[in-house]
Amino acid sequence: MHAMGEGSEPTASPAPFTSKRRGRSRPGPGEPTDFDAVQRLMWAGRAQAYASSFAGVCAHPVPQLLDAARVGAGVRVLDVGTGTGTVAEAACARGAGVTGVDAEVDMVDWAARAVPQAAIQLAVLPQLPFADGFFDAVTANFVLDHVGRPGAAIAELRRVVRPGGRIAVTLWAVPEAAGQSLLGRAVRAAGVTLPSGLSAPAAEDDFPRTVPGLAGLLTSSGLRDVTCEPVHWEHRVPADTWWAGAAAGLGTVGQVVASRPERIRAEIRRHFDLLSAEFTIGRGELALPHSALLACGHR
Ligand SMILES: C[S@@+](CC[C@H](N)C(=O)[O-])C[C@H]1O[C@@H](n2cnc3c(N)ncnc32)[C@H](O)[C@@H]1O
Repeated sequence: MHAMGEGSEPTASPAPFTSKRRGRSRPGPGEPTDFDAVQRLMWAGRAQAYASSFAGVCAHPVPQLLDAARVGAGVRVLDVGTGTGTVAEAACARGAGVTGVDAEVDMVDWAARAVPQAAIQLAVLPQLPFADGFFDAVTANFVLDHVGRPGAAIAELRRVVRPGGRIAVTLWAVPEAAGQSLLGRAVRAAGVTLPSGLSAPAAEDDFPRTVPGLAGLLTSSGLRDVTCEPVHWEHRVPADTWWAGAAAGLGTVGQVVASRPERIRAEIRRHFDLLSAEFTIGRGELALPHSALLACGHR
């Protein structure tokens, strides 16, 4: 297989996974970590790109997430990291009173337009602008994947839910299912190295992305009667749509793709098309196996 080295042409966007803090001391408890800083850059201005690509795959576990949080008519629910508003919209459809927050202003604007019946505002974990015990339930769909201090984030979700109120979260499982690793395989096949470093929280803040790992995180953050289960599904999506999410710079792999010169992006795309063959179900559509973890507990 021909492996292409990284070229010297101008890049499409700045190199990812760099931080001004490198070499400096560890940030204090209220300060964003290097991982948080990378995430802020990654999501900035990408609501449209997310809505038209990866929002679809993240929508799959939403009914189970809302069931786990017992979201129904009259429940006062907070959806954290609401993105383009998928969970907020589904919660509104159940008759809940919905507040949504996100760290990215572009997402806040998008969700506010998409779900006008919800109250959407800017807020960044692990600090939420709500009183202790204000909500009956809190949800966070594929948000823990993007915070630098997951334990502090869960503790903050616990703080804003009332005693007995429920918290439900989803997280991408490790090891990844075959459909999730397709883009990363294409990058490696093109001879491009995926970064380690800032593509994950600092080791002392991280936790295993497994059933016991996520359950342990919730329990150690003060939640009670914690349960965690794997969720598996097949996401059907046009190959061009899946590629577009990465080409727009979404996710760790997307940041790598978008920061490479056009010649290398084309080579990654070529390998993506070759590797997609095993998932193709006809007319350019892929069936991509995915695995997530769904965990819940109460205050
Ligand atoms: C994978 S998207 C999920 C969006 C939405 N929950 C959904 O199901 O489609 C992750 C979202 O979390 C937001 N996010 C990342 N870090 C955050 C933080 N520290 N506080 C609040 N939101 C955050 C991002 O801006 C992005 O909108």
